[in-house]
Amino acid sequence: MSIASIGYLRIAATDTAAWMTFGTEILGLMDARREDAAGARFLRMDDHPFRFMLEPGDADELLATGLECRDRSAWLELCERLRNAGHSLEEGDTDAAARRCVTAFVTLQDPSGNTLELYYGRRLDYAPLVSPTGVKRFITGDEYTGDLGFGHAVLPTPDMEAAATFYTELLGLGVSDELYPPMPEGAPESKVLFMHADNPRQHSLALYNHPFPGGVVHMMVEVSCLDEVGRALDRAKAAGHTILASLGRHINDNMCSFYVLAPGGIAVEYGYDGLLVDWDNYTPTVSTEGDHWGHEYNFPG
Ligand SMILES: [Fe+2]
Repeated sequence: MSIASIGYLRIAATDTAAWMTFGTEILGLMDARREDAAGARFLRMDDHPFRFMLEPGDADELLATGLECRDRSAWLELCERLRNAGHSLEEGDTDAAARRCVTAFVTLQDPSGNTLELYYGRRLDYAPLVSPTGVKRFITGDEYTGDLGFGHAVLPTPDMEAAATFYTELLGLGVSDELYPPMPEGAPESKVLFMHADNPRQHSLALYNHPFPGGVVHMMVEVSCLDEVGRALDRAKAAGHTILASLGRHINDNMCSFYVLAPGGIAVEYGYDGLLVDWDNYTPTVSTEGDHWGHEYNFPG
């Protein structure tokens, strides 16, 4: 398998300061205090130099998903496979790689136009996480699981068949669950394809079969216990952020979580208790329910 984890997200924000306040005071992430010539701000959740790069922009949207290869040979092999399949890869220069704290990367689009950055050799500084809200740790891996990545993201891929082929056959992700959530009568069929990388997290990336504003359906960060989730929910409510979904527990990754809208409108899932899977003994599931309980949605407007 070529992709080890989702290492980082690059997010454009019309108000990076508001996003940073949300990231630190609500989510409990740490301001990485990195200098950036273009005015980006950085949030960290573990010993990676950052997991989220917030860049000043005219719109609030996902700019790129950073996918990590384990080493240079895996990265070169993947790049060659993609080029042979007709994809054009743009090589990042030294400055752009330094900005992402990676050894090297290439940029490409998936078949639905989502931007991906494939990289290897993240440069770690091992500064400890000091959460401004006292979050003890974010679940991004340990000595037993290896790096689990920052969490997960769901990308809009209206041409789901082409996207699924691209992610599974070229990038080497494995399918963990195919979800057909119950829809109101007359609504178009909705499908979410959950995929895992080469780590035990039940899904690192999922595909949604419709377009979606902001270029991402949601992104997820995970903490270590229910109390941390509850405290974040209290902080989000107290600060007046829109709670997109009440507390609930998902099928498939078992995540017990709520959803909150970040400034600018990107949905952030905040959860704990995500399933870790032994892929050698796993049979992908096909599901017709999204939740065991809860997750009552409240879409603004
Ligand atoms: Fe999720």
